Amino acid sequence: MTVTREAVHATSSLVLTPAVVAHRGASGHRPEHTLDAYRTAIRMGVDDIELDLVSTRDGVLVARHDLELSATTDVAQHPGLAHLRRRLVVDGVAQEGWFVQDLTLAQLKTLAARERMPATRPASAAYDGVEGVPTLDEVLAMVGAESSRRGRAVGVMLELKHAAHHDAIGLPLDVPLLRDLACHGLDHPWARVTLMAFEAPVLRRLATRTRLPVVQLLDAGEVVTADDLDRIDEYADGIGPHRALVLPRDAAGAIGASSTLVRDAHRRGLTVHVWTVRGENRFLPTNLRRGDAPDALGDMAAEVRALLAAGVDGVITDHPETAPAAVRAAVPHRRTLGS
Ligand code: G3P
Ligand code: CA
Repeated sequence: MTVTREAVHATSSLVLTPAVVAHRGASGHRPEHTLDAYRTAIRMGVDDIELDLVSTRDGVLVARHDLELSATTDVAQHPGLAHLRRRLVVDGVAQEGWFVQDLTLAQLKTLAARERMPATRPASAAYDGVEGVPTLDEVLAMVGAESSRRGRAVGVMLELKHAAHHDAIGLPLDVPLLRDLACHGLDHPWARVTLMAFEAPVLRRLATRTRLPVVQLLDAGEVVTADDLDRIDEYADGIGPHRALVLPRDAAGAIGASSTLVRDAHRRGLTVHVWTVRGENRFLPTNLRRGDAPDALGDMAAEVRALLAAGVDGVITDHPETAPAAVRAAVPHRRTLGS
């Protein structure tokens, strides 16, 4: 059945705005994309968790940002998997290592997750080896259980990674995605589930197969014209821009006035979830840093406030402990989209 975008707008009524979304879980505090990272974020009061999805060799969706595994797991320490190390070109970028698509779920389940940036986040690295790589099914089950236990629906924002690449190797992501969501009773527009990708073709495909909201991600440095937004509005419910597209930085790396992107998107009825706000000085605008240490925490709350002032509907962050208070202070009475 073809579903009109108008119908989706009319029925996506459980989306709180502005929302705090935990990027890869509370990834400033725990190795990214572990159940512990997601649970920690839920404990911190986030509205949604964001997760990236890729496929194992046997077609199971798992939570990983990269196809290559050595940056976030101990795969290199597994002699039994040494023969799977190889060179692979993904979306034009050559990489060397171990790739999720080459491992069965059983093989992937022997790995332990580790912190991607141990020098910047040593407290998170203390949790290296504690947990493995979760499947989408396991994450949805955990989120469902936490939502019931806490009496509030925690949402999930699901990003499909390298969709065309997965299509080309016979492991399309959208098929198991919709199957997993249906298994958990979540493939309907009043579920707190959002589907995201940088690649438009998979989003266009999903928009004809599900009534869940679809968000077009936009990378830093992209020039987003009125025509681009009109085109996105044909199939998507929202955009997910890099924060620099909303708060451009000057030559010194400082933020000031916001761009018109949020206003232009809202005029078309598109929501705006901005990524990725991180607490350490090295990631913050230069005028929000505190002291000279790149890995010390700066004034992330000020960046969140600036994004809220620009009108965003959601802030996707590695440090969700800071954001809910900033949202409550800036917007004491949040509204539900569609109401
Ligand atoms: O939520 C969107 C954001 O996660 C996209 O960037 O590279 O962290 O997946 P990335
Ligand atoms: Ca992501």
